[in-house]
Amino acid sequence: MSKHREKTTTETTPTLPEGLVSARDLHKTYRMGKVSLEVLRGVSFDVQPGEFITIYGHSGSGKSTLLHLLGLLDEPTSGQVFLEQTDTSSFSRNHRNAVRNRDVGFVFQFYYLLPELTVLENTLLPAMVEHSTLAWPGQNKALRQRAEELLAELGLGDRMKHRPKELSGGERQRTAIARALVNQPKLLLADEPTGNLDSKTGKKIIDVLLRLHRNHKQTILMVTHDEELAQQVGRSLYLTDGKLVK
Ligand SMILES: Nc1ncnc2c1ncn2[C@@H]1O[C@H](COP(=O)(O)OP(=O)(O)O)[C@@H](O)[C@H]1O
Ligand SMILES: [Mg+2]
Repeated sequence: MSKHREKTTTETTPTLPEGLVSARDLHKTYRMGKVSLEVLRGVSFDVQPGEFITIYGHSGSGKSTLLHLLGLLDEPTSGQVFLEQTDTSSFSRNHRNAVRNRDVGFVFQFYYLLPELTVLENTLLPAMVEHSTLAWPGQNKALRQRAEELLAELGLGDRMKHRPKELSGGERQRTAIARALVNQPKLLLADEPTGNLDSKTGKKIIDVLLRLHRNHKQTILMVTHDEELAQQVGRSLYLTDGKLVK
């Protein structure tokens, strides 16, 4: 029996993906009643630690769908997402949530800041989720300091006590970036982070991402419908007809 097993394993075991995040033959089909929409049709690629990858594709091509799968916000119809060689499809719901909160930071087009919280409080939210209420009082000071340093680095040192409505669009997005980074995630996912900003402010946000990549080796995956932007920043891939092309 052991002989038999040895033979089959050498023949059939695929090597594990090497990326920090690896997508393998991802398919996603949305079903609404009798209608089904095949959005992703076999997406495979690897994000290596420290890389900055930009995926562009036009509106409706499935960019957000893909980011949601990679960030464990949604599950594929078939195929796998590996995080550091671990197949995440085996994760329980609780484990998925914990891994997402700890290892993945999200930046969205519309910021999604909580209006009643200050800039500093918004930034601290994922850290409060990560450290349970029991551990929170002990961790509070160190985390606060980290959040304050991040905000200062992002040029928001004098905005920490402001609420989102008192900020410009660029300042709101920088707050969202600080929030995404507070738990020091392995992967930062950005979904059209400049989509709601004028071009000058958008450029500043891209500069912030480039700086994080350069100075902190932050791994970043950004999606955008802006082909010109994608080709200027990092390694760019094109999402079309449900597949990725170089
Ligand atoms: N939850 C959903 N249910 C049904 N259809 C969806 C859902 N999310 C997205 N879609 C559809 O899937 C396609 C791809 O959407 P999306 O990933 O948001 O594209 P993009 O981000 O590139 O604009 C669109 O046609 C969209 O309407
Ligand atoms: Mg989208």
